[in-house]
Amino acid sequence: VTRVGEGLEFDPRDVVARKRDGVELSAGELRAFILGYASGEIPDYQAAAFLMAAYLNGLTAKETAEITTAMIDSGDTISLGRIRRPKVDKHSTGGVSDGVTLVFAPLAAALGLAVAKLSGRGRGHTGGTLDKLESIPGLRTDLSPEELERQVEEVGCAVASQSKDLVPADGALYALRDATATVASIPLIAASVMSKKLAVESDLILLDVKAGSGAFMKTARAAEELAMACVGLAEHRGRACRAAVTDMSQPLGSAIGNALDVAEAVMLLRGDERGRLRELTVAFAAEALEQLEERDSSAARAAAERSLDDGTAAERFARMIEAQGGDPRVLEDPWSVLPAAPVRVEVVARGEGFLAAVEGEELGRIAATLGAGRIKKGDPIDHAVGLEFRPKIGDRLEAGEPVATVHARDESAAEAASERVRRAVTITPDPATPPPLVFGWHGGRR
Ligand code: URA
Repeated sequence: VTRVGEGLEFDPRDVVARKRDGVELSAGELRAFILGYASGEIPDYQAAAFLMAAYLNGLTAKETAEITTAMIDSGDTISLGRIRRPKVDKHSTGGVSDGVTLVFAPLAAALGLAVAKLSGRGRGHTGGTLDKLESIPGLRTDLSPEELERQVEEVGCAVASQSKDLVPADGALYALRDATATVASIPLIAASVMSKKLAVESDLILLDVKAGSGAFMKTARAAEELAMACVGLAEHRGRACRAAVTDMSQPLGSAIGNALDVAEAVMLLRGDERGRLRELTVAFAAEALEQLEERDSSAARAAAERSLDDGTAAERFARMIEAQGGDPRVLEDPWSVLPAAPVRVEVVARGEGFLAAVEGEELGRIAATLGAGRIKKGDPIDHAVGLEFRPKIGDRLEAGEPVATVHARDESAAEAASERVRRAVTITPDPATPPPLVFGWHGGRR
């Protein structure tokens, strides 16, 4: 028996060996292992071996549920008991030009719901809501649980960073998975995502599970499997959850950056923008109304559309920004407050034809290389830079037509990015069919 520090009364090697040999682990073994790792009693090398065994041999639904519960129990949970409005949480598994949260939170607030959203930062080629919001001068995201609750009670929405005390086991395990090539395991992703959602009180969890070239899950089938694993974990805890598998074979909106995404969100909130980003945001808001207020689907959709067009969602956004210390003039005149890049270069289509495919992940990586994301952990973000990529799959393009604008710090970065953007698109002579926006919804209705 290995005893490291106090209280570890089992040999971690037995747990690793049983997972290696394909044996289903018991609740007690998994709980002791996860909590032992979170408390520092089990070293990285044994946890790394366990993760690789789990990656290769998989985890049963029961094992995944036990891991999730242990992860939640590794830290604090947030109860939002003072908030009387129905509470909806929303999470995306990560994409490119995925600005849904920025619009969804104030939109849901305008519709009478409450959104206490704990967000993450950009990772790899995907953007992060906190990084985007922090391009608004003065805006704070480090709200305490009390500040979060008070703001949601008063304004209806808040977007804050997750504290280190919420699911600390995930913080430690995610970093170890990143370093050991074990991130891309559906049960491990489901446990990671859902532990963080289940640790915060809500009446409904909405998940946007992305599928395609700009997502971690490259196929709708893999995304569907992840969606079902997540829904299963919510059901296990008696929580309501609906998960949509949605298209990420191309950027959802057109902005890929930080200030650029905020400016795009403002356009949507003022009702000035149509397209897939608006459609998906409306679909999530409508789903929340259907589930929590028992509205029928067309009335729910119409209410969401109206709130974007009549300024009520925009007004909530301004109040949320102001409550978090940001400059609310961002709503009236975004570029009077947001940082703009000094160099702008238009990228034009090389040939004529139809846009058939986009390397979504590559577009995210180009924006990150410009400075909009982190190449390595802890890198600073340049909020001003990024890309605007406008056409959608199926669009007809003429040779020489502008398809993208690169926003860069200097000419040479802009030139390198422009060349990569040109190579990331496929134009064909034959018409191309646009992919569906939503592949399907999972999870039981109320
Ligand atoms: N997002 C998470 O929070 N966890 C994962 O493992 C992958 C994506």
